[in-house]
Amino acid sequence: MESCSMVVSSTLCVVLVLHLGLISIMAQQNEVQIGVAGQAVILNCRGIPHHAAVTWKHYKLLIFSKGKATMSDRSEIIPSSKHLKVMDLRLSDAGIYTCEYESHTVSISLHVFKLMISLDGHFLPNEDLELTLMQNSSHLLPSLNITLFNSNNNIVTPIVVEDKTHQKYTVKLKELEATDSGTWTCRVHSDSPLINQNIPFDVRVLGFQNPDLERKYATVGSTVILSWHLNFRKITWKGGFTGQLNWKQQESAPAHELLDFNTTAWGEQHKTKKSNRFWFEIREGKFGSTIEVKLSKVNFNHSGHYQCQLAYNSRYVQSKIELVVMKVSANPAGPLARGAEMTLTCQVSSPLPPNTHLRWERVNGTQMDVKKSKQHEVKLEVNVSTAGLWICHLIEDNDLMISLSYPVEEAPVWISYVVIGASVGGSVLVFVLACLCTISGISWQRRRQRAKRMVQARQYLLENKTCQCQHRLNK
Ligand SMILES: *[C@@H]1O[C@H](CO)[C@@H](O)[C@H](O)[C@H]1NC(C)=O
Ligand SMILES: *[C@@H]1O[C@H](CO)[C@@H](O)[C@H](O)[C@H]1NC(C)=O
Ligand SMILES: *[C@@H]1O[C@H](CO)[C@@H](O)[C@H](O)[C@H]1NC(C)=O
Ligand SMILES: *[C@@H]1O[C@H](CO)[C@@H](O)[C@H](O)[C@H]1NC(C)=O
Ligand SMILES: *[C@@H]1O[C@H](CO)[C@@H](O)[C@H](O)[C@H]1NC(C)=O
Ligand SMILES: *[C@@H]1O[C@H](CO)[C@@H](O)[C@H](O)[C@H]1NC(C)=O
Repeated sequence: MESCSMVVSSTLCVVLVLHLGLISIMAQQNEVQIGVAGQAVILNCRGIPHHAAVTWKHYKLLIFSKGKATMSDRSEIIPSSKHLKVMDLRLSDAGIYTCEYESHTVSISLHVFKLMISLDGHFLPNEDLELTLMQNSSHLLPSLNITLFNSNNNIVTPIVVEDKTHQKYTVKLKELEATDSGTWTCRVHSDSPLINQNIPFDVRVLGFQNPDLERKYATVGSTVILSWHLNFRKITWKGGFTGQLNWKQQESAPAHELLDFNTTAWGEQHKTKKSNRFWFEIREGKFGSTIEVKLSKVNFNHSGHYQCQLAYNSRYVQSKIELVVMKVSANPAGPLARGAEMTLTCQVSSPLPPNTHLRWERVNGTQMDVKKSKQHEVKLEVNVSTAGLWICHLIEDNDLMISLSYPVEEAPVWISYVVIGASVGGSVLVFVLACLCTISGISWQRRRQRAKRMVQARQYLLENKTCQCQHRLNK
């Protein structure tokens, strides 16, 4: 009986051992490793002794012998571990790899993902990002759950389209911005086989660090610097591009090219002045990633739209600065005589946004001296009868943007007397003249009458003489 039980138990043991061995072989065969196309993967042959000689196969093909597998020239056995390293992985490298040493065989199933990024990852703002994710493996392709993280590691929600075979996924995301530049992550998940793979990729959005439209205020005669900051160094843009700076006084007016520039793939920048229409100076930025112009002694008609445009592979992006110039003037100009009035005018070159207005005030003046412009008014007039320092402010929300002052001087006292004197003197003069005219008028009339009478008398005398002669002849 004892021997019998021993036989039974030993048989059990053998069965158990065989069973365990089978489980472990199956477990080894099911081992899935993940690789990403273009990158390297190290296939791990577990439990291999240091001194053992090892052969690696892809399906039945030896990797390092005459009848080579396709990845042979991209592969090497790591001497210390005997692991297989495959570089510059391809989709077709997927499948069953076996590592054989002594009498052991270890199988690994390599699952390969390939991620392709539209436009080679080089975008301009507002362009759409499109990813194509492909997978290949020795077993049935699993349905994948794809999660996308942007450069700030925030989840973004793209549109994902997958084909029936789960071979290809298309991931679309609308309208990138310059600030989206950086390393993104595509996270791929599947429950069976269990896959949790992060695939990082670079997104470069070449653009301006300025907003699309900026407004800059300047007072007449001041110096203005307009600058556009390009992000190409920050995002390690790999390519050359060109651009230009245009100016137009009004939206509808023709554009004038002020300068053009080009930047090589190595970041060298050339700027060329294209216009002598008005005086401006090209300023060289510190890192060559700034387009900057200086306008000295700004004129009222230098206002308008300054547009910087970038071109890359016949695609364009632009950023605009609207220069609004403010001036003040007085009518009549010159000192203010006592009791007189003058009109001060504060004018901007284009209508202001609703949150912005002009405001005239007198320094140390009263509330009565304050006058504000109405919405969209480009001109604010104030009638002034008090001398002092008058200031026109341009105010956005509650912030003072620019100011321009106009000193109204009081006319010196003697000027006032002269003015008064002149007016008084003037009326006296008129009176005197009037009198003189009247007097001379009367005397002229008298003289005329006298002359008339003398003519009559002469005639009378002549007539009498003739009569006397006739009388004499008749006698
Ligand atoms: C997937 O891999 C197999 C080899 O494992 C290869 O024959 C096939 O061409 C690959 N498919 C693609 C789409 O590359
Ligand atoms: C996919 O992943 C997201 C985020 O990790 C998760 O919320 C969602 O439930 C997953 N969907 C499936 C079908 O696994
Ligand atoms: C860049 O500009 C410089 C100076 O105008 C010019 O000599 C050069 O040919 C330009 N390069 C390209 C690639 O357009
Ligand atoms: C701007 O006005 C000044 C005189 O006020 C004139 O000399 C100049 O040519 C004008 N510039 C432009 C660009 O119209
Ligand atoms: C305004 O008042 C201050 C203090 O009273 C004085 O120092 C300043 O000169 C005045 N400014 C003008 C322009 O009147
Ligand atoms: C300023 O005075 C002129 C002439 O006296 C007048 O026509 C004008 O309406 C006045 N303007 C304001 C803003 O009071």
